Amino acid sequence: MLSLEEVKQSLESAGQSHVLQFLPELCEEDRDSFLQELSQLDLKGLKDHCEGAAKAAASPSASLDQHLEPVPPQVIGSVKKSDRNSLTAWENEGLLKISENRVGVLLLAGGQGTRLGVQYPKGMYNVGLPSNKTLYQIQAERIYKIQELADAKHGSKCTVPWYIMTSEFTLAPTEKFFKKNNCFGLKPSDIIMFEQRMIPAVTFDGKVILQGKGKIAMAPDGNGGLYQALVDNKVLEDMKKRGVEYLHVYCVDNILVKMADPVFIGFCVSKGADCGAKVVEKAYPAEPVGVVCRVQGISQVVEYSEMQQETAELRGPGGELVYSAGNICNHFFTRAFLQDVAENFQGQLKQHVAIKKVPFVDTYGNQVKPTKPNGIKMEKFVFDVFPFSRKFVAFEVLREDEFSPLKNADGAATDSPTTARNSLMAQHCRWVLAAGAKLLDEHGNVLPPKAGISAADNSPAQCEISPLVSYFGEGLEPLLRGRTLPTPFILDEKLAKELQAL
Ligand code: UD1
Repeated sequence: MLSLEEVKQSLESAGQSHVLQFLPELCEEDRDSFLQELSQLDLKGLKDHCEGAAKAAASPSASLDQHLEPVPPQVIGSVKKSDRNSLTAWENEGLLKISENRVGVLLLAGGQGTRLGVQYPKGMYNVGLPSNKTLYQIQAERIYKIQELADAKHGSKCTVPWYIMTSEFTLAPTEKFFKKNNCFGLKPSDIIMFEQRMIPAVTFDGKVILQGKGKIAMAPDGNGGLYQALVDNKVLEDMKKRGVEYLHVYCVDNILVKMADPVFIGFCVSKGADCGAKVVEKAYPAEPVGVVCRVQGISQVVEYSEMQQETAELRGPGGELVYSAGNICNHFFTRAFLQDVAENFQGQLKQHVAIKKVPFVDTYGNQVKPTKPNGIKMEKFVFDVFPFSRKFVAFEVLREDEFSPLKNADGAATDSPTTARNSLMAQHCRWVLAAGAKLLDEHGNVLPPKAGISAADNSPAQCEISPLVSYFGEGLEPLLRGRTLPTPFILDEKLAKELQAL
């Protein structure tokens, strides 16, 4: 820990002396912990950070829109446009790599989930499925199942390690939650949690914001903080030790996420890609998803917050959106590429400006909750490494099968607990019907043969299949063919065993 004098001097030379203005008012314990916090800051880089943030907020970087072009459709792989044989070949390739312990998954879970408005990590959210499973549990069970599928195919006993990037906000509650739930049946040593860095929020005139008299307002450095965090926490070494060569990186809130998706991994590997992104067709111009496109000829993602409305609304001759390759925050990276980024490109990652309402203490020491934005948070984005790749590929998947994010609280029209729950149950209805069973609604009426959607309220039947029984609809036919199933229908492992025994 640095001495008070050292901290004072560093803050002074960074033009941030105000940070210590309430120090004399703090009790000894608070003073010590504040000094501890300040000692851990990158005090040398503080001046640049503060000045840079104020400058970036005052003169936003020129819009990229005039340099954009869509990614040519022929370079985007697609589930819809590929034949069964190709899809099976990619899936087999992916399962082989998984069985050889060469695949890991990495969850980005350092965000604060502000839009959802909960005080705990988003992964702990229960969207109200019949089973009451949380997002973390669903993800854990999908990892378990994909290992099992790879083992069954190749006679292996494989592991897909689960790397989880957290932040100061999410690490402790996430660790506690996993412990309480016995890691949902996964081996604790195969779940590797690590923390991303936090950086100070800054006022428009470049001053660090004090959140309390002895506390700086800190925020995670964006999901692109991943690359620094991989280095800080020696994650690439861990991957190397385990022989992991391919990483599936994903964000926490998509209830339909296919963990270590063998089709996506197989596709990327067979194309020789070092970097890849899953996309879905954008639903409407203002949908808050980034777009995979080319900027001056180079494939990358332009974030929804940085694309002008007119560009987002551009349509082609058939009425389709010109920029329609919606990023669903599911990325593929080879370890070699990540190593390259860590060694050579880390420092070049773009900083994006986010203007936020940041609670603070005013000069009189009063706690203030601002009603309008007062602070700048600088963020890096996980996809900003795409331009450094040697071979980037995009892979388009079906929205109804793979993308239904939880962003907003209930009441919002889109991306809420209700829409997430409904997407999952609708998918599971489709699986059940495709396996040759019928579903009954609560009045005993057979639900329409295609969707399992009740006509009355346009919502799917209460139907949920545990990932421990089926990862993506496979294996259900022998259990369900010819059956008529009353809803709510929950197919868990126990019921699956009973049905098998019949
Ligand atoms: C993100 C994507 C967007 C995509 C959308 C799909 C980024 C920068 N944007 O947008 O292009 O269309 O998902 O749903 O990837 N996180 C951290 N640390 C942080 C900040 C965020 O780990 O400092 C994690 C979050 O916990 C979350 C993920 O990154 O799992 C995405 O963050 P979020 O802020 O929800 O991104 P979106 O704006 O929804």
